[in-house]
Amino acid sequence: MADLGTKIGIVDFENPIFVASGTYGYGTEVSELADINDLGAIVTKSITRYPREGNPPPRIVETPSGMLNSIGLANIGVEAYIETMIPLYEELKTPIIMNIAGSTEAEYCEILEMTESASSNIAGYEINISCPNVKAGGMEFGVDCDLTEQLTSRLRKLTERLLIMKLSPNVTDIAAIGIAAERGGADALSAINTLVGMSIDTTNKESNIHFGFGGLSGPAIKPVGLACVHKVYQAVDIPLIGIGGITCANDVLEYVLAGAAAVQVGTANYRDPDVGNSIIIELDTLLDKNNMGSILNLIGKVQLGS
Ligand code: FUM
Repeated sequence: MADLGTKIGIVDFENPIFVASGTYGYGTEVSELADINDLGAIVTKSITRYPREGNPPPRIVETPSGMLNSIGLANIGVEAYIETMIPLYEELKTPIIMNIAGSTEAEYCEILEMTESASSNIAGYEINISCPNVKAGGMEFGVDCDLTEQLTSRLRKLTERLLIMKLSPNVTDIAAIGIAAERGGADALSAINTLVGMSIDTTNKESNIHFGFGGLSGPAIKPVGLACVHKVYQAVDIPLIGIGGITCANDVLEYVLAGAAAVQVGTANYRDPDVGNSIIIELDTLLDKNNMGSILNLIGKVQLGS
């Protein structure tokens, strides 16, 4: 058996296959459709200070090798999350990473503080500074180095748990944003969130997404995700979590070679909520077959021409 174990900050994970925010609910709902106990970690959908209905439909559309979404951070809000979801995690072996979204710095801090003061076994937080589908907050932070550093350092002071900043590909220089988050005290970075995209129904000339733009995910964005991970890997010393178009073990290996210590499977969960478990088994076989040993030894080992 290959060694699939990995480490992000102070937390050891049994394997590097996490499921991505927005594709697995709050974590436990999917247990009716998949065995969620063997995943490396579950990242929850974004939790905001107050409940949100999200954007009006249509807010999801399939595209070539991908999907556009403009959900608009629909969720139950942090109070209900603490009351109804966090207790469910007591039964769960899989580490939970809570994804937080806010429209101001104070709001991000308040959500994190409220969660910290509730007793919980959450492994850490992924901070969404990269949602392309809301008017206020989110990406506003993730496109600005100073705002990213300032927010990260305020959040850092509020928790000793894993602090992961989720980066946007919709920037000129993703490595600069990664460096800013590292300077602010992040334990790790996840990359990438979705790319801004559009889809139009030519029969009636209407946009297939209510507000026109949405976030593109799925296999179509894998090459962009790999490039972003490698650029950030070359610029920072903290671990990276690769996201974007992962559907099989070979995709995972590509992300690890590009510099990721773990990955998040996202859009593929819509087709098969148990795909994470299939990938874990497939990854074990792939590493064994190629005598590759352990995940930790493969991180960033892509060979580039001179
Ligand atoms: O619209 C959404 O809820 C998407 C969030 C995100 O991409 O971070």
